[in-house]
Amino acid sequence: MSKIVFSDVHKTFDSGLHVLNSISLNIKSGESHIILGQSGCGKSVLLKCLLGIFDIDSGDITVDEISVKDRKKSNEYLRKFSILFQGNALFDSMTILENVIFSASQVNKNKFECRNIAEEKLLAVGLEDSVFNLYPAEISGGMQKRAALARAIAIEPEILLFDEPTSGLDPVTGGMICNLLKDTIEYLGVTALTITHDLKVAAFLADRVSVLNKGCVVWTGCTEEMEDCHSDFVKNFYHASNAISK
Ligand SMILES: Nc1ncnc2c1ncn2[C@@H]1O[C@H](COP(=O)(O)OP(=O)(O)OP(=O)(O)O)[C@@H](O)[C@H]1O
Ligand SMILES: [Mg+2]
Repeated sequence: MSKIVFSDVHKTFDSGLHVLNSISLNIKSGESHIILGQSGCGKSVLLKCLLGIFDIDSGDITVDEISVKDRKKSNEYLRKFSILFQGNALFDSMTILENVIFSASQVNKNKFECRNIAEEKLLAVGLEDSVFNLYPAEISGGMQKRAALARAIAIEPEILLFDEPTSGLDPVTGGMICNLLKDTIEYLGVTALTITHDLKVAAFLADRVSVLNKGCVVWTGCTEEMEDCHSDFVKNFYHASNAISK
C-alpha cells in the first residue's frame, strides 16, 4: 500500500495551455480515490504526470516520499504502479494466458511460477480456463477487460490505476466490472486511483472523490456529500449526471 501526494503541481503545454493549475492532493495509503471531471479537464494529463510520462513545470508528486523527478529511483517509483488502460491494451498476437504470463515475467524470472501466477489471476477475475488459449479478438469486451485486469494484478502492484474502467461497455457488463474492481481493490489491499467522468462509477468505487475543473481540484470528499457541498460546479455536475442516468 502506498501514499500518493501531489503538491502544487502545474503543467503547461508548449501551446501555452495551462492544463494543471496548482493541484494539491493527498491520496492515502489503501484508499480508493476517484478523480472525477468533464472531458478535457485534465484527468489523463494528471495520470501521465503521475507516471512521469509528462514532466511537470513546478510542484512535486511523491509516492511514499519518492519524487517523480528522482531519476535515480525511477524504477522503484514505477514498480509500484499497474494500470488498467481504457482500451485494455492486450497484445493481439498473444493468447489471453500468454498476455498475463508476459506481465508476470516482468517481475518474476521463473517461467513455471509465472504460468501459475497467470492462471491464478485469470481465475481470480472470473475467467474460465476454456478462454485461456483464445486470442483477445475472440472474446467479448467484458472478458477482455477481465483479462486486462488479470494482467495488471499479475505484477503484484502497490497502486492500481484505472483509466475510465467502464467506457465502451454496456451498463450490465460495466456494473459487473465495477464489482470486480471493488473486490480486487479490497482483496489485494492496494491503493487505487481511478479517473472517470461517470458519477455512478465514482459513487460505487470511491472512498473519496476529487472533482477536477479546468485543471484545478475544486472539491474533495465522499460522493454522498456532493449534493450539499459548497461548490456550485460540483453540485451542477452531480445534478447533471443524475439527470442523464434517469
Ligand atoms: N500532449 C498534449 N499536448 C498538448 N495538449 C494536450 C496534450 N495532451 C492533452 N492535452 C490537452 O490538455 C487538456 C486536458 O486533456 P486530458 O486528456 O487530460 O482531458 P481528460 O480530462 O482526460 O478528458 P477525457 O475525459 O475526454 O479523457 C485538453 O485540452 C487536451 O487537448
Ligand atoms: Mg482522458
